[in-house]
Amino acid sequence: MKKTFIITAFIITTAVVLISCGSGPRRDTGRIYMPDMAYSRAYETYAQRDSLVFFSDMSNPANWGSKIFYNNQPVTGTIKRGGNAAYALLNDSAGYIASAAIVNPYPPMDKADSTETSRLYNINCGVCHGAGGQANGPVAGKLGGVRDLTSDLVLKLADGTIFHSITYGKNNMGGYASQLNSKQRWLIVQYVRALQRKAAPAATATTAVAAIPAKADTVKTK
Ligand code: HEC
Repeated sequence: MKKTFIITAFIITTAVVLISCGSGPRRDTGRIYMPDMAYSRAYETYAQRDSLVFFSDMSNPANWGSKIFYNNQPVTGTIKRGGNAAYALLNDSAGYIASAAIVNPYPPMDKADSTETSRLYNINCGVCHGAGGQANGPVAGKLGGVRDLTSDLVLKLADGTIFHSITYGKNNMGGYASQLNSKQRWLIVQYVRALQRKAAPAATATTAVAAIPAKADTVKTK
């Protein structure tokens, strides 16, 4: 009895395996009437794909409609979460003059901000302007025309104008809008002010001083 059961079970199992592997009408997946839905088109994000619309500007209504845009930029004026409003002034002489009216929106730096801003300044600006801002960084001699940040000229520049110049760059100096976010640039403006106070403490002693962190290698411990 038991033997018959085992044999029957074996036969049924074999039959099921064979039938399920056989080719029959079931293997036909049917007609695909929307291939885009079944198989996604493997486009590389920035690859050229349609010469007519490559880098098309979606703000231009002529480009709206049937085209598919994979390399869209966010809508003009998009602000990332927690980010500042886009900088409205243009990189031209009118923008440069208008920048003087822009006020630094951030309160004086605290210790942590100051340490971080010192780091950012030394990475991004110190190569030309020098750690103390006196245009004596390692690249300054090669480039020429690097502005002394403690000079009378920069002392008299408005905070907004310094921010503008950091954002867009000026002549031999490149812009920093893509490397430093708006808050970092404003804090660097404060840092430049602090360097100026450090270079000429008497002239600006009355204004509140944001602390410049002592550099570890200049502090002597006995
Ligand atoms: C590649 C070298 C270089 C680097 C790096 C650099 N600068 Fe400059 N910077 C210059 C030169 C050159 C000028 C003079 C531009 C001019 O007026 O012709 C200048 C000018 C300035 C001015 C005066 C702007 C004005 O409106 O007259 C400020 C302020 C300034 N730099 C700040 C910074 C800060 C802050 C950083 C870092 C975020 C930085 N720079 C990075 C080369 C550099």
